[in-house]
Amino acid sequence: MDQILTADETPRATDPLGDWRRSHSCCQLTAKDVGSDVCLMGWVQFRRDHGGLIFVDLRDRVGLTQVVFSPDHAPEAHGRAHVVRSEYVLAIKGTVRPRPEGMANPNMVTGEIEVVVNDWKLLNTSKTPPFAIEDRVDVGEALRLKYRYLDLRRPKLAQNFVLRSKAAQSVRRYLDGLDFLEVETPMLTKSTPEGARDFLVPSRVNLGQFFALPQSPQLFKQLLMVAGLERYYQIVKCFRDEDLRADRQPEFTQIDIEMSFVDEEQVMDMAEGMVRTLFKECLDVELPNPFPRMTYDDAMRDYGLDKPDVRFDLKLCDVTDIVRGCELRVFAKAELVKGLRVEGGENMTRKEIDELTEFVKIYGAQGLAWIKIRENEWQSPIAKFFSDAERAELASRLGLKVGDIVFFQAGASDMVNTALGYLRVQLGERLGLIDESAFKPLWVTDFPLLEYSPEDKRWVAKHHPFTSPKDGHLEILGTDPGKALARAYDMVLNGSEIGGGSIRSHTLEKQSAMFEALGIDAAEAEEKFGFLLNALQFGAPPHGGIAFGLDRLTMLMAGAKSIRDVIAFPKTQKATCLMTEAPGVVAAKQLRELGIKLRENVAKDGE
Ligand code: AMO
Repeated sequence: MDQILTADETPRATDPLGDWRRSHSCCQLTAKDVGSDVCLMGWVQFRRDHGGLIFVDLRDRVGLTQVVFSPDHAPEAHGRAHVVRSEYVLAIKGTVRPRPEGMANPNMVTGEIEVVVNDWKLLNTSKTPPFAIEDRVDVGEALRLKYRYLDLRRPKLAQNFVLRSKAAQSVRRYLDGLDFLEVETPMLTKSTPEGARDFLVPSRVNLGQFFALPQSPQLFKQLLMVAGLERYYQIVKCFRDEDLRADRQPEFTQIDIEMSFVDEEQVMDMAEGMVRTLFKECLDVELPNPFPRMTYDDAMRDYGLDKPDVRFDLKLCDVTDIVRGCELRVFAKAELVKGLRVEGGENMTRKEIDELTEFVKIYGAQGLAWIKIRENEWQSPIAKFFSDAERAELASRLGLKVGDIVFFQAGASDMVNTALGYLRVQLGERLGLIDESAFKPLWVTDFPLLEYSPEDKRWVAKHHPFTSPKDGHLEILGTDPGKALARAYDMVLNGSEIGGGSIRSHTLEKQSAMFEALGIDAAEAEEKFGFLLNALQFGAPPHGGIAFGLDRLTMLMAGAKSIRDVIAFPKTQKATCLMTEAPGVVAAKQLRELGIKLRENVAKDGE
């Protein structure tokens, strides 16, 4: 077969496949295939020239096969093989044979055999990749994101997408089996408040007006219940312009579900079944049946967060009453004081404590108080502020023992809980208290309906404004809004909120009362949600649902540390795509057509 060399001696691909057809994948062939003629196609992972023989590890999506070009077996094919380099794309026809005595590789599925080449085609060449396509990479994420298509060739990363695809199929099968209908809802829509900023899309046809990309299909799925579809689901992109973290992306995927004629128990039952089936089918992991439940209050009391990681046992302890009269003003005056005892933590170094102090500052703490419990003394800058009686009470409530360290946080309740809650997780990781192979799901229930937003200086919905209050709680919205509880539930797995939902307000009265409690007057409610309020008057059935974060679920199942590892083309922490360089500046003509003029300083920066 012709090998075309260009003037500078680099080979040129012989692109047509002709009648060549792949017979096997690169992880299929074993000793029982010895003697078979096969055709493989893939990328050159590795090439070794051993004097006469040329060895190539050929890689495809699923694995590797060792391929040998031998001058004795097929001199013409061997003669052309010297040009082969890493990441070239080859098609080879060859014969399976056992590897020579002592050369088998027990770590490879195909480790017992090799394929001796009879003929081959160069399907394409490759520039030298900017990093080696191997599971262990030591290059920065920025370079990997710029060349995402090469990063995705790494088997470990590629496996995450195999898992993700399996997960989506498992979910579809499960919901299909329960008579759910998969329905698509609009991407160009009106904003639904889910707590984040909207991504806006200007309308060319309606100058000066904007669509919002959906933060979730919440209102549409409720309208599908009014429409009588009864059981809906969708695996759907959602868009939220919010601050990014390791488990958040500006566009992410929900498994979004809604059901009619149900209460909380039925939605939770269906959702648990889905997650149990998912783990069984994808990972062969049995999750508990039923999942444990914890109220929001208990979660906050013991873990400081409404997404407790119950894989390890450290708990927060409220000591506000004990230190009320102590001489340390920040403790005595604080709304809440909590301690976190770390057994045997007394040998923690100053440097480690300083690092933890910096860590809690992320969550608004001013500092981090601590006491080391030594044989005859409490070693601590704050020990002197406590009387003997206070010490005795602290020791008893916190269960202090010689060799422990206890951390304290004092101040506003939210800050104390958040800072100590995340400190707990941080300590769990640093001290190796977490069983990384365990999956510990639970439900968090009895959420408050509203929470006070100090920024907006008003009550806002804890989940979203369409969540129904618990029976009898609508009445206290006007008098004691912080005490009203919601018919909402979150599913938490290993300290991550993987899903959340609620029973909705399905009558006009309830929904209007909720808007009122949120300070949304009738005119604003009509302007923003008139279509929903209208629909509720046409026989809306009782309904409720839930949405799961598919990315987060896959991340946890894959044991990945970042949500970016389970999204094919993710955004950076700064919400940009390094590969396509989006977002980008657009042509003046496009802006003109949309009736948009950039402010002068923005336009300059843009250019
Ligand atoms: P919620 O806002 O709790 O509920 O979202 C549901 C689930 O979506 C995932 N999630 C995210 N994943 C990645 N990046 C993000 N920025 C992000 N934001 C949320 C989480 C979360 O549990 N309409 C309601 C659902 C309902 O009431 O039925 C909703 O969207 O895993």
